[in-house]
Amino acid sequence: MENNAKSVTIRELRQEEDMEARDIVVWGMYRQGVTFLGAARIALSAIQLRPFFWQVYVVWGLLMAIFYAVSNSVLVSVGLTAVFSIPSSWGIDYCMFWLYAHAVRRELNHLYSWYNDKAGSRFWVAVCGGKIVGTAALDRTSDTVAELKRVSVLPEYRRRGVATRLMKRFEEFCKSDGVKRICLDVTRLQPEATRLYQKCGYVITKAGSLGLRLEKLI
Ligand SMILES: CC(C)(COP(=O)(O)OP(=O)(O)OC[C@H]1O[C@@H](n2cnc3c(N)ncnc32)[C@H](O)[C@@H]1OP(=O)(O)O)[C@@H](O)C(=O)NCCC(=O)NCCS
Repeated sequence: MENNAKSVTIRELRQEEDMEARDIVVWGMYRQGVTFLGAARIALSAIQLRPFFWQVYVVWGLLMAIFYAVSNSVLVSVGLTAVFSIPSSWGIDYCMFWLYAHAVRRELNHLYSWYNDKAGSRFWVAVCGGKIVGTAALDRTSDTVAELKRVSVLPEYRRRGVATRLMKRFEEFCKSDGVKRICLDVTRLQPEATRLYQKCGYVITKAGSLGLRLEKLI
């Protein structure tokens, strides 16, 4: 398969490609939020005592209280909560993903006009053999500040420098268009994205229980 970074072209999204690009963005969001792996990562974070969603503790506490009320046994309630911990984490992931996807559905269904109708905003795609394999968007928040959004690469094209090339194009545009500061948000379920951004020179400016904010001055 001709899928190395050199055979990939970076260009702006065309209107007729709205749905194709949307599928890649949603695939990236879905994978990070809903998969079993995502839930397993949360459970692993808990085992390693790393910070993660405080909501998970609340749900586990509620489950433990319900199981205790039913069984009147600490051992049974702890055991059952452990058994249910993965599905409950998964449930939280799923609900959060669904709420988020619902809130941004207008944008996702009309990516071309959403980004092209806003002065200074853009949407780029990485194309290989006529197929879109990656996406990145610039959401202009002021004359000098831009937000990097919707970075997603199809799984079979990852680790080949596609996202790095999309980000280079994004930054070239920012420099030529007067942007001085680039911001982005990433959830704690996306360590590979965080590594990508840090490798590209972004620094963490805010760390919350759900996610991180990174920024770069250009
Ligand atoms: C994050 C994502 C966009 C990276 O795309 P990519 O094309 O594979 O990234 P690149 O090949 O340009 O990788 C650049 C650097 O990012 C880091 N990186 C990327 N994927 C990684 C992984 N799975 N594990 C660890 N580091 C990773 C590495 O530092 C890598 O440099 P290296 O290959 O020299 O080690 C891709 O994994 C993806 O689409 N993920 C799902 C959607 C998502 O999380 N988007 C971010 C929204 S904020």
